[in-house]
Amino acid sequence: MNPTRILMVCLGNICRSPMAEGIMQHKIDKYQLNATVESKGTAPYHIGDTPDHRGIQTLEQYDIDISRHHGQQFSVEDFDAYDLIYAMDESNLNTILALSRNKNDREKVKLILEESFPGQNKIVFDPYYGNMADFEDTYIVLNEACEILAQKLV
Ligand code: 4NP
Repeated sequence: MNPTRILMVCLGNICRSPMAEGIMQHKIDKYQLNATVESKGTAPYHIGDTPDHRGIQTLEQYDIDISRHHGQQFSVEDFDAYDLIYAMDESNLNTILALSRNKNDREKVKLILEESFPGQNKIVFDPYYGNMADFEDTYIVLNEACEILAQKLV
């Protein structure tokens, strides 16, 4: 069977989505899931940049290394390259949906916290202007959502 190709998307691809990618990759490895995961941002500001050091530091505590990731921007071709596209907030979601070409594209896209809080439209708050506690909160909500997603893929 082909692996399930997962894409995590935020705005800058330096805080939330690289953290989501690292957390999900850790679960793919831990549970030996037939899945791949990558991350991108809807904005071009941080193409080529490594993740925010606060996110790197937060995940180090959980033995997850995201320091080698480099920022990439989401584009329409990604609808063909991925099976599941997870947005961190409704702004990312709307930007992705605006690029969609058809119903099949749109069915791939949802908010990541739909996994842990279905039907509640909850978002992963952007920790970029926050502090280390905000990055820890980002880890907690992403870990919970990724664990539920991982269990669906076992
Ligand atoms: P992210 O956070 O979308 O979680 O990567 C942000 C990072 C950078 C910017 C905005 C959000 N920025 O405006 O540069």
